[in-house]
Amino acid sequence: MQIELAKRIQHTEEYYFSRKLREIDALNQTGAKVINLGIGSPDLPPHPSVVETLHQYAAMPTTHGYQNYKGIHPLRKAIADWYHRYYGVSIHADRNVLPLIGSKEGIVHVCMTYLAEGDKALFPNPGYPAYASAVRLSGATGVPYKLASQRNWLPDLDALTKGDLSGVKLMWLNYPHMPTGAAATTTFFNEVVAFAKQHRILLCHDNPYSFILNNQPQSLLAADGALDVAIELNSLSKSSNMAGWRVGTLIGAEERINEIIRFKSNMDSGMFLPVQMAAAKALSLDPEWYQELNKTYSRRREKVYQLLDALACTYDKQQVGLFVWAKVPASQADGYALSDEILRQSRVFITPGGIFGDGGNAYIRVSLCATEAVLDEALDRIANAVITQ
Ligand SMILES: Cc1ncc(COP(=O)(O)O)c(C=O)c1O
Repeated sequence: MQIELAKRIQHTEEYYFSRKLREIDALNQTGAKVINLGIGSPDLPPHPSVVETLHQYAAMPTTHGYQNYKGIHPLRKAIADWYHRYYGVSIHADRNVLPLIGSKEGIVHVCMTYLAEGDKALFPNPGYPAYASAVRLSGATGVPYKLASQRNWLPDLDALTKGDLSGVKLMWLNYPHMPTGAAATTTFFNEVVAFAKQHRILLCHDNPYSFILNNQPQSLLAADGALDVAIELNSLSKSSNMAGWRVGTLIGAEERINEIIRFKSNMDSGMFLPVQMAAAKALSLDPEWYQELNKTYSRRREKVYQLLDALACTYDKQQVGLFVWAKVPASQADGYALSDEILRQSRVFITPGGIFGDGGNAYIRVSLCATEAVLDEALDRIANAVITQ
C-alpha cells in the first residue's frame, strides 16, 4: 500500500550518517573492519561520579515516574551555576533554563515553535545539517548564509543587511563552529546581537563545542542585551562524554522558555530522574575534568594532523572543537571523492565536507573520537595505500 507522505517530509531524506553507517555496517559484514573517523560521538566515558550518581538514583524505588516538563530544580540550578562559573553569564534557574533531551531535539522544538510556511530562517553553509532539516520540517523556507575561510568562517553581516531579509524571523548560529572549528570573537557576538535587534530576528545559538580544545569557552548570552534577542542551546554530549544519555539545555528569556515549552511538552514527558541527577553532577565538575579531556584530544589531534599530511590536505591549527577540518588537495575533485577513495582503498571513513552544505565541498572533516592506537592504524592504512598507488 502506498501512503502519501506529509508535505513537510517530502523533501527530507534520512539523516546522512544514518545511511552511511548502514553502508559501513554492510562493508564490515564482508570483513572490511572499517575505521570510522566520521562521527563526533565521544568514545571516552563520563566522570565515574556521574555514573555512580546514575546508579545510586536508579536503585531507588521512587525515581521511576514521569518527571516535570521543565526538568528537576537541581538540574536547572546546576545548569545556571555552570553558565555562571564557566561563561560568566547570570541566569535564573527557574526562569531561563529548559533542559532538553539533547540539543538536536531542541533545534526542532525551536523551529516548530516559531516558524511556519511563509517564514524564512537563516542557517550556516557549511553548518550542522539539522538546522536546515528542522527549518524545512517546520514548513518555513531556509536561507543559507555562506561562510568562508577568508572571514574565518564568520558570517558577513553587512552583506546580509544589504541582501533581502524580508520574512526572516530566525537565524541559526553555531560557534565554535562545526564543521570548520572556527571560534567566534566577543566583538562578533556583540555585532550579531545588534544585527538581530535591528532586523527583529530571533538568534538561535548552538554551543555544544565550547569546552573542547578551547581555552576560553564563550556564550553568546554574555554579549550585551543578548537575552532580549537570543536563545542558546548547549549540550553534555561532547564535553561530558554523555552523547548517548541525551542531555542538553536551552537558555533564554522567560517568555522564550514558556513559548518553547508549549511545543515541547506535547512531544515528550520529561527525562528520567537519575539521568537528570547525574547530569547535574557532570556540570558541577571542576575545570580539571575539561583539562584532562583536552590533553587526550590534543594528543589525538597531532595524529590526525599526520594523517591529513599523508593525504596532502591543508588545515588551520587554530581550530577548536572535536574535529579537524581540512581542505583536500587540488588533485581531488572534492571531499566526496577523497572520502570515497579512502574508504575504498584504506577502509577508513572520513566525512566529506559537502554534507554540511556546498560551502564545504572542498573539505573533509576528521573526528577526534578515536584512540591514538586506532588513529595510528588509520594512518598506517592510508600511508600504505598512498605508497602502493
Ligand atoms: C553543531 C551541533 N549541534 C548539535 C549537535 C547535537 O548534539 P546533541 O547530542 O546534544 O543532540 C551536534 C552533534 O553532532 C552538533 O555537531
